[in-house]
Amino acid sequence: MCGIVGYIGKQKAAPVILEGLKRLEYRGYDSAGVATLVDGRFELAKKAGRVEGLILSTPAQRLPGTTGIGHTRWATHGGVTDANAHPHLSSDGRMALIHNGVIENYASLKKFLVGKGYTFKSETDTEVLCNLIAYHYQKEPATSEGSRFMESVRKSLRHVDGTYGIAVMCTDCPAEIIAARKGSPLILGVGDGEYMLASDVSAIISRTQNVVYLKDGEMAHLTAGNFAITTLGAEDVSPVFDTVTWRVEDAELNGYAHFMEKEIFEQPDALENSMRGRFAEDGSTAQFGGLNLTAVDFRQIDRVHLLACGSAWHSCLVAEYLIERFARVPVDVDYASEFRYRNTPLGRNTLFFTISQSGETIDTLAALREAKRKGYKVLAVSNVVGSTIAREADGGVYQHVGPEIGVASTKAFTSQLLLGAMLALYIGRMRDMSFSDGSAYVQALKGVPNLVRQTLLLAPQLKAVARRYAHFHDFLFLGRLSLFPIALEGALKLKEISYIHAEGYPAAEMKHGPIALISEQCPSVFLVPSGEMFHKVVSSMQEIKARKGPVIAIAAEGCDLPAGLADEVVRIPECHEAVLPIIATIPVQLLSYYIAAELGRDVDKPRNLAKSVTVE
Ligand code: M6R
Repeated sequence: MCGIVGYIGKQKAAPVILEGLKRLEYRGYDSAGVATLVDGRFELAKKAGRVEGLILSTPAQRLPGTTGIGHTRWATHGGVTDANAHPHLSSDGRMALIHNGVIENYASLKKFLVGKGYTFKSETDTEVLCNLIAYHYQKEPATSEGSRFMESVRKSLRHVDGTYGIAVMCTDCPAEIIAARKGSPLILGVGDGEYMLASDVSAIISRTQNVVYLKDGEMAHLTAGNFAITTLGAEDVSPVFDTVTWRVEDAELNGYAHFMEKEIFEQPDALENSMRGRFAEDGSTAQFGGLNLTAVDFRQIDRVHLLACGSAWHSCLVAEYLIERFARVPVDVDYASEFRYRNTPLGRNTLFFTISQSGETIDTLAALREAKRKGYKVLAVSNVVGSTIAREADGGVYQHVGPEIGVASTKAFTSQLLLGAMLALYIGRMRDMSFSDGSAYVQALKGVPNLVRQTLLLAPQLKAVARRYAHFHDFLFLGRLSLFPIALEGALKLKEISYIHAEGYPAAEMKHGPIALISEQCPSVFLVPSGEMFHKVVSSMQEIKARKGPVIAIAAEGCDLPAGLADEVVRIPECHEAVLPIIATIPVQLLSYYIAAELGRDVDKPRNLAKSVTVE
């Protein structure tokens, strides 16, 4: 949530920062701004709207200088206006600040600063912090300007409650940036004679793959030829360098109309990468390198607790079904945001997993910390190497699907489904699952990329269906057992990118209320299982049809649907039970994508959303 970029080096800062902001825009796109530091003064350009708008309205020569900071905003405090866009300047003009996070005690700090004569142009909590730093700076005894600047930031942050990832410049320190983080991600990129700051690696991979992930409570002091990391308590920290494996092409459209479309079609390869090297040599189970738990530890577990938000939470519901079904271990699934406040009684031998594509979702991170505080081991499934959740977990599994830029999760979601299925297998094989059942399961998982490839061939059919249905204002998505979470996911996808109201329900629950919505104006998308549930779902379809509701059925090739029951039938390949949720996801992704595209929506940057939600 909110994108931060900073640059200090030999190049002109503004073009580097603007390119970084374009790559980070999926974190927030309410407004954008850049400030550079030239001859002891700030040059500032900021504007409500997209980065592109800022670029078009700002001639390059307006922002000279080789030191600068930039920001894309997802509004928290204050509306979407030019004045509320970052960077903010202190009222004495000495400090410029960008911020990701929320300063919770901003109101009392603001009152204090107003009493000291500071004035405010925006409604943001960020401007308060900026003025607070200016206040401490003018109070700080004049040692060197650099250490005076550092001390003023340090002192100010000690008075702040809340979360932040910040970068600050000071007019008295012409080639310096100070950055700090608590609860919001911040990465330092170390390039050839230049340093960059960013809230995620996609902003900097075109310039360097050499990064240092700042930890909570750490500060970075960048100068033209050097950098130092310290804690808020002024202790030195030795930097730990990491190498980013994502390539710059991974974060580009490569001919697709939208990142969401690209990411849907990337799924065969992405899923291949998620499972590569993760099957045991005997071919009967999964193996994971980074769980940091022994087989004996796993045997002692008598409960699994899964925590996540949004689509990742839907993937937990599928994992719950599969772990209970194949490993016979009871599973609880919680919204991460609820878990931390619910104070639920927990068993002794419970193993926690958090699932988060970004690894930065604040609710998931807080839930992880809460479970750890209670003495539990927490493992993480995450896509972003070095993300806060990945680092704070006791172990875990990386998804390896490459950067997911579209705000609507697609390839990360199916990879979470795949890894959930693999965990069910892994735990199951330590218990009662036989060698031959394990081997059949492994074979089924290995076939996933090809089945997904085959299912993607449905794209033209789903495009045509989308054209016929894009004008409806309400949809129901219905499924049972492991397909119920896919119904939830289908409804979420449609809502978030097309702004059409949609609800996901267990198919049999439909008659307990949502059936009141059914009319010729409300289509139902049925995820039809084969096997014992088939006839029950068909009965639910009959109930909809009897009330003139249009029906779109997504059913396996062998399912013998009564003639005339569905208005549209989308045939997916037959597959193993553990794989079915993945395959059934593909048509709902395509349907939502094509409806949104048909309606001309901004698919990759839907209104009000941001890719990673780093505020509570
Ligand atoms: O990065 P995370 O997986 O923790 O994100 C969780 C949700 O914010 C995310 O899945 C969100 O629901 C997506 N917009 C869904 O498409």
